[in-house]
Parts: sequence; C-alpha cells; structure tokens
Amino acid sequence: MSPSRPTWVAGNWKMQGSLAGNAALVTALKAGLPKALKGEIVLCAPYPYLEQVARLLSGSEMTLGAQDVSAHAAGAFTGEVSAAMLADFGCRYVLVGHSERRQLHGEADPMVAEKFGAALQSGLRPVLCLGETLSEREAGQTEKVVIRQMEAVLALHGVAAFQNAILAYEPVWAIGTGRVAAPEEAEAVHRTLRERLAAEDNAIAAGLRIVYGGSVKADNAPSLFNQPNIDGGLIGGASLKAEDFLAICRAANF
Ligand code: PGA
Repeated sequence: MSPSRPTWVAGNWKMQGSLAGNAALVTALKAGLPKALKGEIVLCAPYPYLEQVARLLSGSEMTLGAQDVSAHAAGAFTGEVSAAMLADFGCRYVLVGHSERRQLHGEADPMVAEKFGAALQSGLRPVLCLGETLSEREAGQTEKVVIRQMEAVLALHGVAAFQNAILAYEPVWAIGTGRVAAPEEAEAVHRTLRERLAAEDNAIAAGLRIVYGGSVKADNAPSLFNQPNIDGGLIGGASLKAEDFLAICRAANF
C-alpha cells in the first residue's frame, strides 16, 4: 500500500446471505471495527438485501455496494436493475465486469464499459474487475488481457472517468479456488495497469486505487497489502465470516 492512497476493502457476498445472517454479520463487523475508518470498507450485498444492509450500516462508516448493474438507464429490460435504483438505495459503489459475469453471463468488454458509464452517470463509483484465465496466464498473456479490458473502458469514457473508479485485479484462476496470486505476481500486474494509465494522466494514475481479489484470507492479506501498488482487496468467501473479514481489514490497517 502507498500512504498517498486511502485503503479500500470490499466484501463481495455473491449470491449468499439471508435476513438473519446479514444482520448477524453486519452487527459483528460494526462491533469489531473502529468507528472512524482510515480508508473505505464496502459491503456488496445481493440486490434484495440492499435496503436491509443500508439500514444495518447506519451509524457506521462502512458503505454499501452492489455486485452488478444494468448498462441501460431504464425501460423494458426485465430482471435488470439500473444504476439510479442502486443509488436510490444508498449504494456508493458497484462491481462491473466481475469474472463470474464475464464467464457465466457472457459479458464482454464493450458491455462492461457501458456498465461502467451507467454507474458514473448515476453518481456511483464503478469497481472495474479485470483478470486473466489460467490458460491466458500460461500463454504469457496476462498483461495483454488486463490492458485490453481496461482500454475498452478508456476508449469509451476517457482517462478522467477513472478518477471516480476502483480497479480490481482478480485473476480468474485465483477466485474461489484457494490459490492466491503471489504478492510479487499481483504487484507486477498492478504496476503495469498503473503505468498504462499514467501514460494518459499521471495524477489520475497515481491516485487510483487498484485492489487485488482472489482467495484473499487473513493469512495471505498482509503480504499482499504490503506491496506498493496493492491498495486493498475485493474479498469473496472470507467476507462472509465476520472474524475472517475483520482480520483482513486489520491487515489493511483499519
Ligand atoms: P474469493 O472471491 O475471495 O472467494 O476468491 C473474490 C471475488 O470473486 O471477488
């Protein structure tokens, strides 16, 4: 982490949770965290629970996020949820391009770029998820893939749009597998992304938070967060247990 960028840690609950479970989890997180946070902690809950989690978060500096958003503003799009609706329920952040959306729901770079723009239009901060598959890594294409994913957004919205965004590097082979990227491996990708953006705008690149996701746990979090270009984490499985998530937040200096 660099002292010049505020730390950012989010829990991505995915399609998990319940009214009772969420209440217990958020209550335990509130009790375990300091009242004044040094950076940002975001909980990305499933859509139906956004209102509940927003209520649970009152009196806490933790903020609310969502896991996906429609590329469209409104209209005949059955089953979709717009950025304005997320903002209505108090969301500040939304994940776009999570690898599960890319892989299981066919979301390609152009759609992810549109979602990124839809989020910004409604005042939400998009969390742009990027990452290579195992075969892409083995073929030596990691940098090419993540740069391509980022450039799709740059081409549509320009570098200024990154001022209000977060980048989450999540190698697909590390998500939910227990196989975490080595800290130096992740750092190299984060540095590449920052340098690519610096070629467009130095100040925006220097201020952008680039977080790592993929099997982050309490024991591997400190060495990841020690890297100069890793500004926090996007946590899946370990965000569902208060003790585990709190330990990761502590490793991120909260
Ligand atoms: P994981 O998930 O921490 O369970 O690997 C990360 C993510 O999908 O954001």
